Amino acid sequence: MRFRLPFLKSNKRGSERSVDFERIDRYARHADDRDPYLGAYFEAARATGSSDNVFKQNRFFTLYQMAQRVSQSGVPGDFAECGCWRGHSTYMVADLLKSLKWQGRFWVFDSFEGGLSDKVAQDRIGRGDSSPEDTKRQKMKFTSDYEQVQAVLSPFPFVSLHKGWIPGVFNVPGLSDRRFSLVHIDVDLYEPTRDSLEFFYPRMNPGGVIVIDDYGSATFPGSKLAVDEYMAKTKPSFFLESHLMGAVLVV
Ligand SMILES: C[S@@+](CC[C@H](N)C(=O)[O-])C[C@H]1O[C@@H](n2cnc3c(N)ncnc32)[C@H](O)[C@@H]1O
Repeated sequence: MRFRLPFLKSNKRGSERSVDFERIDRYARHADDRDPYLGAYFEAARATGSSDNVFKQNRFFTLYQMAQRVSQSGVPGDFAECGCWRGHSTYMVADLLKSLKWQGRFWVFDSFEGGLSDKVAQDRIGRGDSSPEDTKRQKMKFTSDYEQVQAVLSPFPFVSLHKGWIPGVFNVPGLSDRRFSLVHIDVDLYEPTRDSLEFFYPRMNPGGVIVIDDYGSATFPGSKLAVDEYMAKTKPSFFLESHLMGAVLVV
């Protein structure tokens, strides 16, 4: 698959600048098609009816590794996810935790039928400044059906779904007293990313990991802004940015 990069002009000989994802080493290493991660990724996509693209494969590989390492290294605490849409990442992580016989709770938060919340000025930078029609399309693209997602995730009794807007939905009884070892923040926009960090970061156990899906996205610049502002106040022990979007904070 070749992916055209719109911001790179064709070179002098007229050949198009593009990235050939077939040649990424990761795929070459698993030529027998038995990459355990991709198996889990595609199984979760199939079960939840979610879309796939190579960038998402890359970001979710980071999430998968972090979930594996955190649960196996014995960092105590629950897991949480802010932004599940149809449950692709939730299913993939929950299936892994089930196979590892992990003991803990996995709290999941989303507006479900509401989709994305409203953009604020921090989301409207560069390509993020979408037209009213495109903004509405983005918001509606990420609506999902609470009952349907709950049914899909029923094999994982340690997962609880909480419907509502972030940060109000964090008022769910018992949540504020919990400590966390892994939090996945995948809400695209400035305010819910900021509010998720403000709620969860102080509740992370040492060695706990926060994975931010949209860090560095041109379409959703508010995510990076929220993370950078938060990190200027509170330094994680380790920070890693992926070149293809996404970031990891180790507390
Ligand atoms: C990109 S999707 C999440 C994708 C998901 N992790 C997956 O595996 O497919 C972003 C989600 O964030 C949710 N969201 C955005 N802003 C929110 C807010 N303020 N409160 C609650 N949910 C929100 C949307 O409803 C949407 O489901």
